[in-house]
Amino acid sequence: MILSAMGAEDEKRLAAEAAAELVEEGMTVGLGTGSTVAYLLPALAARSLTLRCVATSVATEVQARALGLPVEPFDGIARLDIAIDGADQIAPDGWIVKGGGAAHTREKVVAASSDRFVVIASSDKLVEAIAPPIPLELLSYGLDATLARLGEVALRDVPASPDGGVIADYLGPVDDPAQAAAWLSATAGVVDHGLFAPELTSDVLVGRGDRVDRLAL
Ligand code: A5P
Repeated sequence: MILSAMGAEDEKRLAAEAAAELVEEGMTVGLGTGSTVAYLLPALAARSLTLRCVATSVATEVQARALGLPVEPFDGIARLDIAIDGADQIAPDGWIVKGGGAAHTREKVVAASSDRFVVIASSDKLVEAIAPPIPLELLSYGLDATLARLGEVALRDVPASPDGGVIADYLGPVDDPAQAAAWLSATAGVVDHGLFAPELTSDVLVGRGDRVDRLAL
């Protein structure tokens, strides 16, 4: 079934609102990036909790602050209680692809620093198997040599990441996400990639029509 654009927006909002309910008074919270997180922020702000938040992108930081959510630099907090973020692909085995909005490196740091990492998505993000493109962040130093090592890769026509990284997409086959993730991580010049291993994620909340399903991982 093809999901209409409006249907997908409603599903994102429902998943985001359900995730906002998981946040408790006094928590340290990692805020993801993207159109699904854009629904999370007002839902979280509406709860009027006292929180300490870190943001994975400038866009999220700006929206969060405008809604009255306090955002601080991610350098004085060693551990986050919870982080909530969107996804581009969610496979049945728990592998997730992120980085459609080019924020995957910071998103992975935040996910890995959180006791609970909650993924929120509309149902069109569910896939049978992970497929390219896989977002990449690359060092600008030695870029052409890194691109040659990666082979099937395309530079994205977007600004550099806030950390100066070049945004690209790996377009080669991804038959085994674990193997692809290990290879990309081991390739010199790759800062990080958008493959998120199942161990990173605690909960996946998917909007489906007018309900939210919690996927068993
Ligand atoms: C940002 O870089 C991404 O990882 C997003 O979280 C992901 O692309 C999902 O975005 P949407 O919520 O806009 O679909």
